[in-house]
Amino acid sequence: MTQPLVLGIETSCDDTACAVLDGDGRVLSSVVSSQLAAHRPYGGVVPEIASREHLANWPAVSGEALARAGVSLHDIEVVAATRGPGLVGALLVGLSIGKAIAFAGRHPFHAVHHLEGHLYSPFLRPPGDPQPPEPMPDRFVGLVLSGGHSSLFAVEEGAVSTIAETRDDAIGEVFDKVGKRLGLPYPQGPKVDELAERGTPGAQRFPVSRFGETLDFSYSGLKSQALLEIERLERALGPIDLGAGGEPPEQVLDLLAAFRESAVGQVLDRLERLHERRPFSLLAVSGGAAANRLLRRQLPVWAERHGVDLRLVPLVYSGDNAAMIAHAALLRHRRGLVDDPFAAEAESRIPI
Ligand code: KG4
Ligand code: ZN
Repeated sequence: MTQPLVLGIETSCDDTACAVLDGDGRVLSSVVSSQLAAHRPYGGVVPEIASREHLANWPAVSGEALARAGVSLHDIEVVAATRGPGLVGALLVGLSIGKAIAFAGRHPFHAVHHLEGHLYSPFLRPPGDPQPPEPMPDRFVGLVLSGGHSSLFAVEEGAVSTIAETRDDAIGEVFDKVGKRLGLPYPQGPKVDELAERGTPGAQRFPVSRFGETLDFSYSGLKSQALLEIERLERALGPIDLGAGGEPPEQVLDLLAAFRESAVGQVLDRLERLHERRPFSLLAVSGGAAANRLLRRQLPVWAERHGVDLRLVPLVYSGDNAAMIAHAALLRHRRGLVDDPFAAEAESRIPI
């Protein structure tokens, strides 16, 4: 275990997370407590409930993270918490706790951008892996696919610039909305992915959307087409409610397979066009939707064909977690950066 020990805190949405990293970036522990049960009756995340749950969960989550790392709060030397983007009330809980711990212990504090956490997460090794992460490369292209973002970034010597952004719905969000329309419980994304595995996309096709000449992502068109198609199916089959259990009709499985193929197809389209315009040699893919099975099968094939080195986020860090926040903070710390805990504020929307 090398110095300094970093405590990471993440409470931007509905996961209460705490992690401990050592100075080389080894993940000593990463604990994520999901609030799924609390939000499920509402079909999505309820901000007020998220804040309360973070407060209630924090003692157990942080206690577990410290215990698994085999350290106490007194051993912590650097503190990091997510400052945004996210739900302000939820962010405030983790950020305030982080500020308090940093202030009380006179530790350097880092208010971390949530997307910066995702962006560097493909370089982390699984918790308990004795190997430190590989040194951060000087330049790479970062692809973040989550519930709030579908974005491409260029990272050069620690400076991050945006290549392409979400124009409307983010990729994870449309998986959730299509699943919700079919009666699936929150979070619908993983379940839609699972059902799509059993369908055949050949029966119908959704075109891959583009946003003019830009590389920006646009998923609202695909969402509307999928919802219309569900309506059409319901006229033929009667109401569809996959939440009620039972075997989903084959047409629904095929529809989900076609939907997923187009969603993932858009990601590959953007990569292909970016690579044509300015070839790159290293691609790091992260975010909750980077858990998508089709994406995880197709990306290595695409990368191999283009001679691109691929870092696909380990599944343990694809969804929101605090290891990625502590890691981003460690990278900032090494560059001599630090934040004033009194000045750091939670913000729902902030550019990277
Ligand atoms: O990164 P994340 O945990 O939270 C945000 O920062 O948004 O991402 C959560 C999103 C949700 O929309 C969820 O449905 C989606 O990622 N997701 C998936 C899959 N697993 C999670 N989307 C598609 N396929 C999956 N296997
Ligand atoms: Zn996230």
